[in-house]
Amino acid sequence: MKIRLIAAALALAMSAIVGCQLPGKPPPGPEVPNPDTILDSKLLYSQNCAGCHGADGKHGAAVSIGDPVYLAIASDDTMKSVVSKGRPGTAMSAFAQKEGGMLTDAQVAAIVHGIRERWGNSSAVAGVTPPPYTATAAGDAQRGEAAYGKFCASCHGDGKAGGPKAGSVMDPAYLSLITNQGLRTIVIIGRPDFDAPDWRNNVPGQPMSDQDITDVVAFLASHRPATAAVQNSAPAPANVPGGSQ
Ligand code: HEC
Ligand code: HEC
Repeated sequence: MKIRLIAAALALAMSAIVGCQLPGKPPPGPEVPNPDTILDSKLLYSQNCAGCHGADGKHGAAVSIGDPVYLAIASDDTMKSVVSKGRPGTAMSAFAQKEGGMLTDAQVAAIVHGIRERWGNSSAVAGVTPPPYTATAAGDAQRGEAAYGKFCASCHGDGKAGGPKAGSVMDPAYLSLITNQGLRTIVIIGRPDFDAPDWRNNVPGQPMSDQDITDVVAFLASHRPATAAVQNSAPAPANVPGGSQ
């Protein structure tokens, strides 16, 4: 199943990254430039992010942050905040030094700027208003079940076994490692690199509404085990309109 491959690739990428972080920063010496002074966004991205998000911001195990639809809904401030603080309970760790990571604030800003500069393209959502990045209302899992049947089951199946075109997104183990915002982001932007449609094209000609998306996420989240660490991570702030850049 594709989803298992993606999860396995993510685990591999994590161990590779943890593996190279273990020795810590190289000791300062005349021949080793201070790593804090590196501001080359491409280099920083390839060293810190490409392992999970893909060399070109797509085809990675984790969400495609180089997708122009993603860059149309997520503001720089949102991205900087996620990169700095991470998403507790998931593979997305905190990168800012003040949060225990390896990067300065200037490096985080350089990476985010570089991502937008290289891959942002506002024509990806020309003529449409994408759904807001964060949920603006409470979700209803029961309505979400119906929305799931309409918009998702054709590919993901109606249970934990997955479906004809994609793996299960109801698997408790999978849901233990992804936040509600992580789910929302993928429902909005899809995974075009793996033929997963964005919010407009799950059912061609019938784009999902903001409420459909919120309800589907509530339905999926209702399958997450109560013990999952992401359960305890701070929810994405409501009422913050997305779409700003
Ligand atoms: C036309 C087929 C199709 C439809 C409809 C569809 N998806 Fe997908 N989805 C995919 C494919 C293909 C993938 C990537 C391969 C995989 O994860 O199995 C994917 C991936 C995902 C992922 C990421 C899985 C991961 O590895 O992190 C999530 C979450 C997801 N879909 C949720 C949904 C939800 C929720 C809906 C309904 C609102 C939906 N999808 C509708 C085909 C589809
Ligand atoms: C070990 C794998 C891994 C690495 C390395 C990694 N990420 Fe992530 N990233 C993830 C996962 C998994 C998520 C989804 C977390 C969730 O469930 O919300 C994520 C989420 C994100 C998001 C938020 C997506 C959204 O929902 O809006 C951004 C932005 C992001 N990562 C940027 C980066 C950048 C920039 C780097 C490098 C500095 C990086 N990531 C490194 C795994 C990783």
